[in-house]
Amino acid sequence: MYFIANWKMFGDLKTLNSLDKVIKFLKANKKNKFKLIYCPPNTLIRPLSKRLKNTNIEVGAQNSHENENSGPYTGHVNSKMLKNVGAKYVILGHSENRQEGENDKLINLKIKSAIKAGLKIIFCVGETLKEKRNRKTNQVLARQINNGLKLINNKSKIIIAYEPVWSIGTGVIPKSEDLKKSISFIKSKFRKKSPKVLYGGSVNANNIIELKNISMIDGFLIGGASQDSKKFIDIIKKTYN
Ligand code: PGA
Repeated sequence: MYFIANWKMFGDLKTLNSLDKVIKFLKANKKNKFKLIYCPPNTLIRPLSKRLKNTNIEVGAQNSHENENSGPYTGHVNSKMLKNVGAKYVILGHSENRQEGENDKLINLKIKSAIKAGLKIIFCVGETLKEKRNRKTNQVLARQINNGLKLINNKSKIIIAYEPVWSIGTGVIPKSEDLKKSISFIKSKFRKKSPKVLYGGSVNANNIIELKNISMIDGFLIGGASQDSKKFIDIIKKTYN
C-alpha cells in the first residue's frame, strides 16, 4: 500500500521537524507493509532526503521540465536535476498543472524525460465535474492514459493516481461504486500487468474507513491532510485498524 504526501506549495525548513513523528511511527509499525513517499516543494527535496536517510521513506518532486538537458528555461528544473538532489519519484499530470495549461502531449514528454533520468512517475489522471456530469469519465481517462503514456513500452516505472478534479481539496470523494468503476476501468486499459493505481482527492482520517475497503486501490495520494504529520499518521493507522 502506498501513502504519498503531496505537499503542494507548502512547507519550510522548520516544517521538517514534524517528520520526526512520522519516522517514530514508522519504526513502531514495521509489521504493516506500506510505502511512504513525500513530495515536498523543490526547495525541500535535499533537506528532506537528508533527514530521511536512515528510513525507508522516499522523496519525490511535484513536477519537472520535459527537457532532459539544461537550457534557457527560467524557473524550471528537469528530472535529472531533481534526481541529483535526492528525488526518486516525480508527480506528473497533476490537475493543478493541467489547469495551468499542461496538455497530454507535454505530460507524455515529461514522463519520457523522467524515465530517462531514472525517476519513477506518479502519473495523475481524472475528470472534471463537468466531464463527470456529461458521463465522459471513461473517455477522459482513456484519453489521458493513451496520450500520456504514448510510446512508453516499459510501464514498470509508472504509478497511476486517479484524482477526480472535483474531489481535490473539496472534501468530497466519489461514491464507492463509481470509484470502483473508474479504478477498474484504468486497470483494464493495460493489456499486460496494470501499474499500481492510487486514489487521490480529499483523503482524510474519516473517509479512509470507506476507501480502504475498496481492495483494488493500491494506495493514496494525499494533499492537505499530509501536511500535518498527526493527520497523515491517523490515515495510515486507520487503514490498518
Ligand atoms: P487533497 O489533494 O488531498 O488536498 O484533496 C490531493 C492532491 O491534489 O494530490
